[in-house]
Amino acid sequence: MLLIANYEGRSGVPTAVELLKANTNGLRAVIEGIKIVEDDINIHSVGQSSWPNILGELQLDAAVMDGNTRRTGAVGALRGYQHPVEVAYEVMLRLDHELLVGEGAERFAEEIGASKNKNETDYSIQSWKKHLESILTEEQRKLFPNINLMEIKTIARDPEKSFDTTVYLSMDHTGRLSSATSTSGWPWKYPGRLGDSPIIGAGSYADSRYGACACTGVGEMTIRAGTARIVVLYLKMGYGLKDAVLEAAKDLAGLRTGFIGEVTIHAINFTGEYFVLGVNSSRPIKYLIWKDSMPSPDIRDAEIYETK
Ligand code: GLY
Repeated sequence: MLLIANYEGRSGVPTAVELLKANTNGLRAVIEGIKIVEDDINIHSVGQSSWPNILGELQLDAAVMDGNTRRTGAVGALRGYQHPVEVAYEVMLRLDHELLVGEGAERFAEEIGASKNKNETDYSIQSWKKHLESILTEEQRKLFPNINLMEIKTIARDPEKSFDTTVYLSMDHTGRLSSATSTSGWPWKYPGRLGDSPIIGAGSYADSRYGACACTGVGEMTIRAGTARIVVLYLKMGYGLKDAVLEAAKDLAGLRTGFIGEVTIHAINFTGEYFVLGVNSSRPIKYLIWKDSMPSPDIRDAEIYETK
């Protein structure tokens, strides 16, 4: 058994580990872990009290994947619900679709009785207002929100400069590999922007025959490179785990235009190996690892790869 989570996901790790130890289905274990992160108001890139879009609205994204069946479920730009990752799981269970966004996702969440929440907190709103104050001209301030948002979104930046999110990967007692993600996405993003977290194959992928991968950082890059899927494909082609991740990092290095920023690739394989690589990381990248040979989860440093 094995669990990997990024450092932003630390508050849910003990619960996910206890569930894996109790031989719970590994996908349910990572979902229960992520739900704790979604409720954690000290984590500002996931769930409640995270950073809104440029209009001050919290639009949340999440995805799950069962590596045995390769079924997936995802939601994008979901507003007003406490646990996007649980809604994503229900998309997988109840629909023939894999991804719902916006009003459709909210209608589905209502139909299944998902728990509602006003995820915006004073912290979220004050951070957003402070950001607006710092970028709007006097004229734009008078007209806001009836201004051309394109003009101001290009200078939007994450207050913690992390472009973070939460990602979990697990191998359970049966060998099932699972992935799950949840995020509020790029702070002050253009309304409707989806990053990689709800896009299966970009931000996460799991195939119990080979391995699983999940990414944090600039989702625009991993969407373009298909990073999570390509890591698992490299494993299928016979690459070792580290080489598969390094090859995917080289694919990211091949992106020369657009927004080129930081990405962290988290990966495990079906034999229980794990590897985490920070690509272009401007700071040390930590992650949590637990294996059934370890009494409790450990915090480790990722290796770093520079594309320049
Ligand atoms: N990786 C999270 C995002 O780009 O939204």
